[in-house]
Amino acid sequence: MLVYLNGKFLPREQAVISVDDRGFLFGDSLYEVMRSYQGFLFEKEAHLRRLQNGLQALRLRVAEFDQLGEIAQSLLRENDLMHEDAAVYFQITRGAAFPRKHAFPAQEVAPTVYVAANKLALNPAYVEHGVAIITLPDQRWDRCDLKTTNLLANVLANQQAQEAGAYEALFIRNGVVTEGSHSNFFALWNSTLFTHPTGSAILPGMTRQVVLELGKQLGFDIEEAPLAAERLQLTQEMFLTLTSGEIMPVIKMDGKLIGAGKPGEMTRKLQRAFHEYVEALRRL
Ligand code: PDD
Repeated sequence: MLVYLNGKFLPREQAVISVDDRGFLFGDSLYEVMRSYQGFLFEKEAHLRRLQNGLQALRLRVAEFDQLGEIAQSLLRENDLMHEDAAVYFQITRGAAFPRKHAFPAQEVAPTVYVAANKLALNPAYVEHGVAIITLPDQRWDRCDLKTTNLLANVLANQQAQEAGAYEALFIRNGVVTEGSHSNFFALWNSTLFTHPTGSAILPGMTRQVVLELGKQLGFDIEEAPLAAERLQLTQEMFLTLTSGEIMPVIKMDGKLIGAGKPGEMTRKLQRAFHEYVEALRRL
């Protein structure tokens, strides 16, 4: 398995970073995940734009930024991932600097740039039959729009979900549903599909954006508006969106069935439209 680290392609076991790396010490670091459908990188430009926005917010400059797409493509080829679905992971940290100090290093240091491609790890039953979720308070900071590797609140919440036999933890902040620990969230309430608006409370998901566009084309009533958590009890359908899992139906929340306890009609329509969209792009 070859990975890319700081200008070199090398075997995964030989890819090592310094103990002074600020990603390791402070979480001073961003990441991105793209999905490849048999070598085709879905929404590549949009993912790179989100990464670029994050880099600007963190005041990080990456010399090889314009090559990242090509690096991802090379990793898919070199790791024999052109005939299956894969995930490409990018991480950029502020680099290694000693002594440890919170403010940026006085001297400019080169950022650490890591890219790896792996076979997609997803249970297809989740997408087909749906998943269970639990609700938890959103204990994250208020720049959730940045895809930083500071994911402790997400990690602890997702672990709690796993221990409860659920796939995802859905965050509630100030009485409003924001998003999942690693996904965006949609709910059908009173014939309208709701998802939290972009801003600092959620990550502007790439899958979310595609689903919004497809939903509009299908003529659904969609509102990018906060949904009060108390309305969750009355929703007819729910689903999560995430790069690795596309549109994942939610069939149970906090132990109670949603709708008929199986993926809803609208969710199914969007899943079909999503697959057709991916196929159409791949044929271009
Ligand atoms: N997670 N919200 C959060 C907090 C996320 O971590 C993610 C993605 C999303 C969905 O975004 P997108 O559709 O661009 O994947 C929303 C990735 C998959 C992860 O952490 O592995």
